[in-house]
Amino acid sequence: MSYFLLYHPKTRPTGRALAKAMGILCGTAYSPKFEGMDVIRWGNIRDVPVITEREGRAVLRTEINCQRAVTLAGSKLRSLLTWKEHGIVTPHVWRYGQRREDGHRMSEDFISDDALVEKAFFGRSFRHSRGTDISVFNVGFSMVGHEKPDYYIEYVEPRKEYRIHIMRGEIIRAQKKFFGEELFQKLTEGASDEEREKFRQFSQFVRNNETGWRMYDIQDAEKVPVDVLNVAKKCMLVLGLDFGAVDIVFTKSDSRSRAFPLEVNTAPGLRDDNLELYATHLNSIAQ
Ligand SMILES: Nc1ncnc2c1ncn2[C@@H]1O[C@H](COP(=O)(O)OP(=O)(O)OP(=O)(O)O)[C@@H](O)[C@H]1O
Ligand SMILES: [Mg+2]
Repeated sequence: MSYFLLYHPKTRPTGRALAKAMGILCGTAYSPKFEGMDVIRWGNIRDVPVITEREGRAVLRTEINCQRAVTLAGSKLRSLLTWKEHGIVTPHVWRYGQRREDGHRMSEDFISDDALVEKAFFGRSFRHSRGTDISVFNVGFSMVGHEKPDYYIEYVEPRKEYRIHIMRGEIIRAQKKFFGEELFQKLTEGASDEEREKFRQFSQFVRNNETGWRMYDIQDAEKVPVDVLNVAKKCMLVLGLDFGAVDIVFTKSDSRSRAFPLEVNTAPGLRDDNLELYATHLNSIAQ
């Protein structure tokens, strides 16, 4: 069977490079040149005709990472709620409800539970990219992303943060996040000392490329806490994904280790030999 890769426009460079490494066609939308082929979705949820023709017969098209699973993974909130339903421990989330005096919308149970209000939490928006939507609360300083978050999520203090790449239940790569001072300096070039310090504080809470953090490969997956690996596998199963990269915060509280999933990336950034790794594994499941 032959496949084409349907990539999201935001992941164009990786999508194209991956398709090239796999030796298959690719695009951001279905076109007649893909007739007769099955589809690998690289973070793209656009419709593709369900039926295709092969050797004169109408057949159902196979999808690697089906549309529904990619759509579900695309919503952090829906992913978290789905995981919770299936018994996976996640950070607490609250949808907006009543309007508080300070203009933020909070759910009633959140407001009534003083203990929770004292804890650090983030405000998030459904539409965002690269963490620009994040507002942080109760962390000793204020940083506001979008004015009116769509939901709130408990902040789980990370001891470590991992990204676990999984393909059909198999862990193919484990990565860990590290802070890069050099990258941080580059990102804050031209900022005043005061702005830089504020951003440094923010970067201790929001750990992504835009705040100076990067993923590095862990050569020996045995070094990753087993909880992290197991939770990552379960998260993939529950969302019905064939492949993806699960972001997990690993924390230690009350002497109990805990792995809290945050999201699954269905078109993760791939550096160095990870592109080849994905190409090889995808080719082997696309048989
Ligand atoms: N509930 C949480 N507890 C602790 N840290 C969190 C939590 N939510 C987010 N973070 C931190 O913020 C970082 C960025 O969050 P997230 O992955 O949701 O947004 P993003 O990666 O910037 O956006 P996108 O993945 O859509 O590009 C996470 O990697 C993590 O370090
Ligand atoms: Mg992310």
